[in-house]
Amino acid sequence: MTRQLLTAAQLSPAVDTYLAATPPERRWDAEHSFAWAAADADRLTDGQRSAVQFVTVIEDHLPGYFDVYHRHFPVDDTVDPEVFAHNRELYHFTVRWASEEDTHARALTRYQTAAGLGDPGPAILPRFELPYEHPVQFFAYALVQEKATQIYYQQLRAVVDDPVLRDVLTRLSRDEARHFTFMADVVTRYLQHHGDAVVEPIRDVVAGFRMPLAGTMRGYWRWALKIADTARYDHTDAYDSLIKVLDRAVSTRSDRLDGDCFKIGVFGPTRRAGFRRDGHCE
Ligand SMILES: [Fe+2]
Ligand SMILES: [Fe+2]
Repeated sequence: MTRQLLTAAQLSPAVDTYLAATPPERRWDAEHSFAWAAADADRLTDGQRSAVQFVTVIEDHLPGYFDVYHRHFPVDDTVDPEVFAHNRELYHFTVRWASEEDTHARALTRYQTAAGLGDPGPAILPRFELPYEHPVQFFAYALVQEKATQIYYQQLRAVVDDPVLRDVLTRLSRDEARHFTFMADVVTRYLQHHGDAVVEPIRDVVAGFRMPLAGTMRGYWRWALKIADTARYDHTDAYDSLIKVLDRAVSTRSDRLDGDCFKIGVFGPTRRAGFRRDGHCE
């Protein structure tokens, strides 16, 4: 396989934009940012409780997910210097991303305990692998998955009656929107620099897409279908976002996308959110 990686220089604007998108005063954590004492699961329906438990498991499996990135983009002497430079650049993103996703898991777990949903139980450690060969596929997969979780949190937020849970879901969906924006930016850069050669690999991702854990967690689909009712959720909604990225990249391939606000597909179903030139969320 020709690796067809972006160079470190082609990747770095996307990393810079992502890291600039959350100024220190907007950062949050599970320990300080929520009124946990007011959390009340009695205000939730059974379906909503189940939905919270479901996404807690999803967010909690993320160490396996990041391990995949470390294996495929190693930051050590097993790779050539140019590949190392790319992987080192990507690592700036990956560590922050991992930290944010870990915070999601902590916030959801804390909510369950504080709201009286019961002990979430021990972490499960399923094997997680992405069967991809082309580097763009890891970003295209994450693009769909981040958009799917963003939509999920927004839709769940719209129906729940506990203000503490709404606060949590607001934070989570904003983070997922930024993660999606990074992935969309990277996929766009692959399309700009490698053109048609990456279209087929991206198509393969969509054809074989399954949400994380779908193949490893017993009862996943039963659970997922149950919660789909609660939040009117369908992860294929997120494909629209990938298609927009592809359309946009194809029609503006020769243009510079830097400073283009990265508005591609960052539109939630209920609220428009975009990123200004300085990378801040509107
Ligand atoms: Fe998350
Ligand atoms: Fe995310």
